[in-house]
Amino acid sequence: MMQRCLALARRALGRTSPNPLVGAVVVKDGEIVGEGFHPCAGEPHAEVFALKAAGVGADSTQENRACGATVYVNLEPCNHHGRTPPCSEALIAAGVAKVVVGIVDPNPLVGGGGIARLRAAGVEVVVGVEAQACYQLNEAFIHRIVHKRPLGILKYAMTLDGKIATTSGHSAWVTNQDARSEVHQLRAGCDAIIVGGNTVRKDNPYLTSHQVGAHNPLRVVMSRQLNLPEDARLWDTAEAPTVVFTEEGSSPDFQSFLRQQGVEVVELTSLTPELVMTNLYDRGFCSVLWECGGTLAASAIAQGAVQKILAFIAPKIIGGSHAATPVGDLGFTIMTEALTLERVSWRVVGSDCLVEGYLPQKNS
Ligand SMILES: NC(=O)c1ccc[n+]([C@@H]2O[C@H](COP(=O)([O-])OP(=O)(O)OC[C@H]3O[C@@H](n4cnc5c(N)ncnc54)[C@H](OP(=O)(O)O)[C@@H]3O)[C@@H](O)[C@H]2O)c1
Ligand SMILES: [Zn+2]
Repeated sequence: MMQRCLALARRALGRTSPNPLVGAVVVKDGEIVGEGFHPCAGEPHAEVFALKAAGVGADSTQENRACGATVYVNLEPCNHHGRTPPCSEALIAAGVAKVVVGIVDPNPLVGGGGIARLRAAGVEVVVGVEAQACYQLNEAFIHRIVHKRPLGILKYAMTLDGKIATTSGHSAWVTNQDARSEVHQLRAGCDAIIVGGNTVRKDNPYLTSHQVGAHNPLRVVMSRQLNLPEDARLWDTAEAPTVVFTEEGSSPDFQSFLRQQGVEVVELTSLTPELVMTNLYDRGFCSVLWECGGTLAASAIAQGAVQKILAFIAPKIIGGSHAATPVGDLGFTIMTEALTLERVSWRVVGSDCLVEGYLPQKNS
C-alpha cells in the first residue's frame, strides 16, 4: 500500500515545489476505497483527495467508507493551517481508525505534530513503513527544508576517457538514446536546470523534458559576458520559461533583446552559484539540475551548490588532451584531497553506465 502511495505521489513529479510529493490510500476491509495525491502547491493535500474519493463530505446518500478505515500516506499528515486546513483534523473528522505513515515530517518545527494529534484523538498510528523509498522520493524537499537551499544535482555524460566534449567543443551525443531518455525524465522531476554561457554557445540546447504532458523545469543560464547567440533555442519560451542570470550592467542591449523575447534577466552584484541557488530557493524550488560544463561545475561544487552527482559513462574513447572534462579546477594537488562520493550506486542504462552518489557534506 505504501508503494501505491509512492506511485500516486509520482504522478505530480516536478509540479509540487515547494511542497513534497505525497500520495494517500484509504483501505477498508482489505480493499482500496479511495486514493489521492497532492497535485501542486495551493491545491488540497493527498489525504483530502483520498478521503473525498472514499465518500467523505459527499451527500448523505453516499456511504463514508473512510469511517473505521486505514489510511496509508508516505509523509506524516500536516497539523497546521497553511494554505489548506490540517489533514490530521480531516482524518479525525472522517473517523479513520488507523494511519500508516512512511516518514515523519522533516521540518523540525512541525515534525511529529500530526502523529501526536492523531494519537491524542485515539487514532492508531504506525510510523516508518518503506521509509527509505519515502526519503528517496522526497530527498529534494527534505534537503530544502533542512538546509534552506534547493538540492543541487550535477549531471554529466562523459566518454570512457573522461571527456564531455571533443577538443572542438562538440558533444552531441556522448551517450545513447536510453541514457538521454533517462535525462529527460530526470528533468521532468526537477524545478530548474542550469547551464553556463559556453554550453549555450557550443551546444545550443533545448533543456526540455521532451515528454508529452510532462513538466518542464525553469531553464537557467549563467553568463557574465552575455555574448550569447541571438538565435539560441533557449530564447524560445513558448515551451518552457528561461531566466538569464548575469552581473550588474552587463550588455544592456542584449538584456533588452532577451526581455523582448520573454526571457527573464536577473542582474546580480556578483554572479556566483551560491547567489543563484539562493534566488532559486526564494522561488520555492526544491531541486536544481546542473547540466553545465566543467568550468561552472567546479565553481558550483566549490561553493557547495552541488550535493548529488549523476555521471553517465559511455564506452567510447574520444581522446584530445584539451578536450573538456566534467569538473574543472578545484585547487586540489594530492589524491587524498579527492571528494569521495558516498552512498554510491552503479547501473547499466542501455549501452551506457550511470554512477550515482552524494558528495561528502562539509562540516559547517
Ligand atoms: N557532456 C556533457 O554532459 C556536457 C554538458 C554540458 C556542457 N558540455 C560541454 O562543455 C563545454 C562547455 O564547458 P564550460 O565549462 O566551458 O562551460 P559552461 O558550463 O558553459 O560554464 C562556463 C561559463 O559559465 C559562465 N559562468 C557564469 N558564472 C560563472 C561562475 N561563477 N563560474 C564559472 N563560470 C561561470 C561563463 O559564461 P560567459 O562566458 O557567458 O560569461 C562561463 O564561460 C561545451 O563544449 C559543451 O559541449 C558537455
Ligand atoms: Zn496536509
